[in-house]
This record gives sequence, C-alpha cells and structure tokens, in this order.
Amino acid sequence: MAKFVPVDPFDIVIFGGTGDLSRRKLLPALWHRWVDGQIPENSTIVGTARSDLDAAGYRKLAREACKAASGDSWDEKAWAKFEKLVHYVTIDATDPKADWGSLRKLLKLEAKRPLVFYLATSPHLYVDICRAIGGAGLAAEPARVVLEKPIGTDLDSARAINEGVGEVFAERQVFRIDHYLGKETVQNLMVLRFANILFEPLWSHNYIDHVQITVAENLGLEGRADYYDRSGALRDMVQNHMLQLLCLTAMEPPNNIDDDDIRTEKIKVLNALSPIEAKDVRKQTVRGQYTAGLFDGKPAKGYLEELSSANGSKTETFVAVKAEVKNWRWAGVPFYLRTGKRMSGRHSDIVIQFKSAPHNIFGQSAETVNRLVIRLQPDEAVRLFVQIKEPGPGGLRVKSLCSSDLYAESFTLRYPDAYERLLMDIVRGNLSLFMRREEVEAAWRWVDGLIEAWDASGYAPEPYPAGTDGPLSSAVMMDRDGRSWWGEV
Ligand code: BG6
Repeated sequence: MAKFVPVDPFDIVIFGGTGDLSRRKLLPALWHRWVDGQIPENSTIVGTARSDLDAAGYRKLAREACKAASGDSWDEKAWAKFEKLVHYVTIDATDPKADWGSLRKLLKLEAKRPLVFYLATSPHLYVDICRAIGGAGLAAEPARVVLEKPIGTDLDSARAINEGVGEVFAERQVFRIDHYLGKETVQNLMVLRFANILFEPLWSHNYIDHVQITVAENLGLEGRADYYDRSGALRDMVQNHMLQLLCLTAMEPPNNIDDDDIRTEKIKVLNALSPIEAKDVRKQTVRGQYTAGLFDGKPAKGYLEELSSANGSKTETFVAVKAEVKNWRWAGVPFYLRTGKRMSGRHSDIVIQFKSAPHNIFGQSAETVNRLVIRLQPDEAVRLFVQIKEPGPGGLRVKSLCSSDLYAESFTLRYPDAYERLLMDIVRGNLSLFMRREEVEAAWRWVDGLIEAWDASGYAPEPYPAGTDGPLSSAVMMDRDGRSWWGEV
C-alpha cells in the first residue's frame, strides 16, 4: 500500500482554469491527491479565466472533470468536502482594471504558506500574467509560478518569455513543467540507473551500441489543429519530452537527487548534442505527415483533411532523428528518437541496445546481444533481455528471454498521473523535476538548428498512411546503420 505524506496547506490559482488542461489534468490531479489524503482541508484552489462564471458554475465544471477521470471509483462524499476548497474568480490578466481584489480575498497570504500560480494558458500570455501578478503585489516568495510547455516557439521567443517572467519572479520561484518527468517510469529510469550497481559500468560507448526512444501515439489532432499546425511534432514532442528522456538516459550521475544537480547534468547533455546540418537532414532525420488510413481498424482522415482549412500544410506529424551526444561517455553511440501521431499504436519506450558479446561460440545464428527496454506507457515495465539455453535435447540452442516485468506486475497500485506528482512537488518547492531556464533554451537552440536545416534543404514531410509506423524512410534510416526499430508500435 502506497504511503502519501501530506503537503502543507497551500493556495493554488489556475489561470486558464476552464481550459482543456485544467479539465483533463490539473483538477483531476488535485482531486486524486485529495482522495488519497495528501491535500490538507484548509487549502484553496482558485480557477480563473475570462469567462463569467461563479463558484457554483466552476464547481460543476470541476466535478464533471474529476468524475470523468475517476471511472468507477467516484466518491461522492469525498467530493462534497473537496468542492469546498474550489473557488472561481473572473480575471482577464491582460486588463489593467481586472478584479484582483476578489482573488486576494480568497488567498491566505501567510508568510510560509505556498502560493502557486499555475499558467495553463497560451504561452503568449505568460509575461502579461506574471506582470499582472507582480502588479497586484502577489509575486513575493513563497509565491511560485508554473509555466506549461511550450515555452515559446523558438529560442528567441523562449528567451523573451524567460526574461519577462524573470522580471517578476526569481528563477527559484519558476517551475517549468514537462509532464513526462512526472511519469512513474521516467523517475524509475533514474532509480534503475543510480540505485543499481549493475548498469552503470556498462552505461557508455564501451558496451552500448545505441539507444532508441520512441513515443508513438495513435491519436490524431484531437481538436488541437490550430495549435498543432503551428507547432508540429518536432516542437510539440522532441523539443521537450523526447529531449528530456534523452537527457535522463545520457546524463552523468548527479551528486544529489534533491536540488539543482539533476538539472545541471541535463543541461550538459543538451549542450553536447551535435547540431544537424542541412547536408545531413535526409540521412539523420525523417519528417512525415499522415494521410488517410486506419485508426482502430476504421477509416481515418489524413492530416490535411483534419485541418479545418485545407491549406497544404507542411507541418510534420512524425519525426525521427538520429542524434549524437558528443562527449566522452557517448562518443559514437547514436540516440534514435522517433515520435508521431496516428501511428499504429500508442506506446513509449526507451531501448538500450548493448553490444554483441565479443566472440560468439554458439554459431552464427545465435543472438548475443542484451537489451534493456523501459516501457514508459502503457503497461509500465522494465524488461531485460538475456540469452539462455532453450531447454531440451537436440543441440544447444540459444534463445532470447525477457526477464519478467520488474514493475507493472510487481505493484498493483493505481499509477498516479504525472501531474499529481508534479503538483505536489511544486507545493513542496522541489525544483528537481522542473526545467531551468538554460535547459529550455539549450533545447530550443538544437531544435531551431534542425528546423533551419530542414528549411535550407527544402525537406518537406513524407506521407505515411494513418495507422502505420511512419514513412518508410524511418526504417531505411535504421537499415542504413545496420539496425532496426525495436518492437511493434
Ligand atoms: C503533449 C503534446 O505535451 O504530450 C501532445 O502536446 C501529446 O501532442 C502529449 O499528445 C502526450 O502526452 P502523454 O502523457 O499522453 O504521452
């Protein structure tokens, strides 16, 4: 049975409180932490948005959201208590005449009481909202601000946001969230690497042939066409989630788990990423865009048909990249990243492919490589593939056997959503799973370089039918290196 240590009473103000993220993730995350007894009764949750709602209207919205996220385990009695924490204030943060007085009245504003401002709005509002919070005299510590991704659309816009937010909040008050870092299995990657002696001696170019990181989604645009078409898979997934996974896989052991050390190590990895030049984009990257195909066995529209205006968009919905981390540990070890919408299935894996045994005494056909597969979702698991002798007479046959799941089968608890963990870390003031300013900017620097290389080489997305594993070039990219993507998507 998992144990939850309650956090101190806190106030949280969610800007964009009626939006999609609040309804799908933030309110349900707070609700689940409440049900598990982690949130004290005298905490306050305030939704704010431009819509003219009252507290009762917002509680209704929150109830629907939390109920939808609870499935069969809905607890009406617990809700009756929880909803007393929930309030709403109409605020247009870009309006100098906005009513901050009503918000102020709901907050306790005590010297040590955490006050969280969660910006679940469009990033172009971040600076204005922070200035308004500062103008209302609410930005002093223990206040803290949470910035959702994407922080900008390129290095310049990310810098402008970081500068603007930095005028109001000190860096130690800024929590830049990447929800992948709150996933149980992603944290388990750190435990696996740094709480076991087994892997670390092997964790380098000496014994690792290559690393694959796949985040495959079978969903399409899900009502986000406007945002997505301006973004594309590289900005939407690679700049943040995929590079964060790469960093955790490649970083040096941090001195400490609690403070800035993890962030310092991650930044070193980002700074060691080799830029991809225009002459190499067709060898080292694949851009794809889905066309009509299948989803769940039924006909699915292509990307262009899903967009409301068929504008001949050149936005990529799939990207594969062969990245290189130029440092002592990883010299010559490719990190293959791949992500896409409308692929044949939904799964996220980190695959560590070890080198072959130096001398194969079992015959040419015997496989002699080990593989560590960390399945982030669904069916969270860690699987180690080792070679064994197939039992039975008739010669010595070598077979690849997967160790039993070390994770999903061992624990029967409900896997908390990433936001649950991250929200509690924010309340506690623990920054280790949040990105430092330089980290976001280093990731943009590398991604901007790749976008420039795509533009300079005129590389338009290659079509792939919905329900497949991306363009054929993705398999060809691996094949050229004598490798292949692991497993079925
Ligand atoms: C978001 C992206 O950050 O992550 C989405 O904007 C994507 O496009 C989502 O679908 C994936 O998150 P998860 O937790 O479902 O893997």
